[in-house]
Amino acid sequence: MPKPKIYVTRRLPSEKDMKKLYEYCEVDLNERDEPPSREELLEHVKGKDGLLCLLTDKIDREVMDIAGSQLKVISTYSVGFDHIEVEEATKRGIYVTHTPGVLTDAVADHAMALMLAIARRLIEAHNCVKTKGCWRTWSPTFLLGEDVYGKTLGIIGLGRIGTAIAKRAKGFNMRILYYDIVRRERVEKELGVEYRPLDELLREADFVSINVALTKETYHMIGERELKLMKPSAYLINTARGAVVDTSALVKALREGWIAGAALDVFEEEPLPIDHPLTKMENVILTPHMAAHTEEFFREAAVTVAKEVLKALKGERPAYLANPEVYSTTKLRT
Ligand code: GLV
Repeated sequence: MPKPKIYVTRRLPSEKDMKKLYEYCEVDLNERDEPPSREELLEHVKGKDGLLCLLTDKIDREVMDIAGSQLKVISTYSVGFDHIEVEEATKRGIYVTHTPGVLTDAVADHAMALMLAIARRLIEAHNCVKTKGCWRTWSPTFLLGEDVYGKTLGIIGLGRIGTAIAKRAKGFNMRILYYDIVRRERVEKELGVEYRPLDELLREADFVSINVALTKETYHMIGERELKLMKPSAYLINTARGAVVDTSALVKALREGWIAGAALDVFEEEPLPIDHPLTKMENVILTPHMAAHTEEFFREAAVTVAKEVLKALKGERPAYLANPEVYSTTKLRT
């Protein structure tokens, strides 16, 4: 029996996981530590049974057409799968798997780090000491920040990551509000978080943290109207997806002082162009979509993604399907 063929767009960090892939599959690996170009991606997917990718790889209908009808599984090394045309994959009976759970703590830690950094002007302070040697300790006008402890946090999307942020925020004695399309009564009881309709949450929160997946419904859910509802002293934290926020509206809000600042890990356009208006603003902290970047995350996600692709290729049910409905149709097909 010939081995199934897979294209791996980025080497997994552990040799053990790579070895597992090599044992069972004929592996075509992008050896470089950067994503394949569109041309390379299209060239290498041809004739593959499986594709192991990252969120920097756009997997659309064209990729699936070029791969061919034997493509059985697309496994992404990320929790989000908005870079994959899942509906198209589903129509074709292709499994799409992802890695939920393993990055929850990493992203929640990063959201807290962004919140603390923007409130305490950490980056400004760091740059000031490093580059200007500035030091005016105890001056009441020097790098004044704001307390995080005891403030009100509004979490939009109380899923795994939103809940992990709420747990951390409790340690900061924060009042925690959340908005979600479903009520999370168990979490409300366990953590003492309070549900609010979106507009109310925006009006009340000192920090608003976005933690929803990007879907047709959440695209630009935070626009001019919503930003105007926030307090002029409030901060927006986004570790979910850039396009949940209308970037032009956010730039306007930051310029015109509708809100106090923003700390962002994700952007509508990635990489964020160096001359983007957001890079010029003082009341903004930017990180390059790396909230999940911890050794722990990459180690665990590699194990998950390798297991998932192998399961699908062996005809077993992958554990983390973005399109579980494919399982029944695939069963009927084989
Ligand atoms: C990170 O943004 C992910 O979706 O895994």
